[in-house]
Amino acid sequence: MSLLQSMAQRDRVFDFLVPSESPVDVRHGPILYMEDVTVSFDGFKAINDLNLTIDDGELRCIIGPNGAGKTTMMDIITGKTRPDTGSVWFGSRHNLLTLSEPEIARLGIGRKFQKPTVFEALTVFENLELAMATDKRVLPTLMARMNGDIRDRIDEVLGMIGLEAQYRQPAGILSHGQKQWLEIGMLLMQRPRLLLVDEPVAGMTEQEMERTAELLTGLAGKQSVVVVEHDMGFVRSIARKVTVLHQGSVLAEGTMDQVQSDPKVIEVYLGESEEAA
Ligand SMILES: Nc1ncnc2c1ncn2[C@@H]1O[C@H](COP(=O)(O)OP(=O)(O)OP(=O)(O)O)[C@@H](O)[C@H]1O
Ligand SMILES: [Mg+2]
Repeated sequence: MSLLQSMAQRDRVFDFLVPSESPVDVRHGPILYMEDVTVSFDGFKAINDLNLTIDDGELRCIIGPNGAGKTTMMDIITGKTRPDTGSVWFGSRHNLLTLSEPEIARLGIGRKFQKPTVFEALTVFENLELAMATDKRVLPTLMARMNGDIRDRIDEVLGMIGLEAQYRQPAGILSHGQKQWLEIGMLLMQRPRLLLVDEPVAGMTEQEMERTAELLTGLAGKQSVVVVEHDMGFVRSIARKVTVLHQGSVLAEGTMDQVQSDPKVIEVYLGESEEAA
């Protein structure tokens, strides 16, 4: 059967015919909605009755002491960890608890882990190209047209991550900060609707942190971005709305000034620094 004939079969859905625009529906509310989420590891509640909503296009910072559940929260959103109870929705249409990790990624949720995982032997350009090639919707028959689109997108992303001058360099010789930006760029290739970034500036120089702040604030509006970070100076430089997690729940939420002057928050951070001392 020819490709065209098989495409005409109405009982089959072909991946590459699914519109690449993420079909997430935010007309009636937030892009991410978590309600009463709890997850236990051996009886210990790492996430405890967590309620969190992220608006479309929002840049949200999540802070909280070690072990507060920040990374576990991202594990739940991306389908890596299943909660014991609660609901997690992407827009009003997608119940994330019924979807696999790859399905969630394909819907447009990108996640940046703390350690950069770029391909060191490949150039910056090739890394970005590869990030697109892992999208199985791109059929060889559509390659001719897609190649132009991919090149345009690579140019666009190189500009966003500020690595235009390095595009031919092997990723292995980039600085730590540049590798982090490249990895964010690899996520951006697929135009995610929601980007989750865990501790992006750990190990970065002051200058790299400033550049990262520009990058992340520049993404807001076009996509929703959730940033988990311990560096308070950095958080202050990008923060709009800040959520403080503690013992798996939201302890406080508001502007940086509001949460930093909240007695509950001060107590939690004071307790942490006393432990360290
Ligand atoms: N797979 C797991 N099995 C058992 N316990 C886990 C697992 N994942 C996380 N935990 C525990 O759950 C709690 C929350 O961990 P999590 O990594 O989410 O914290 P975090 O807020 O990201 O901390 P940090 O700021 O140190 O990265 C911790 O007590 C951790 O030890
Ligand atoms: Mg963590």
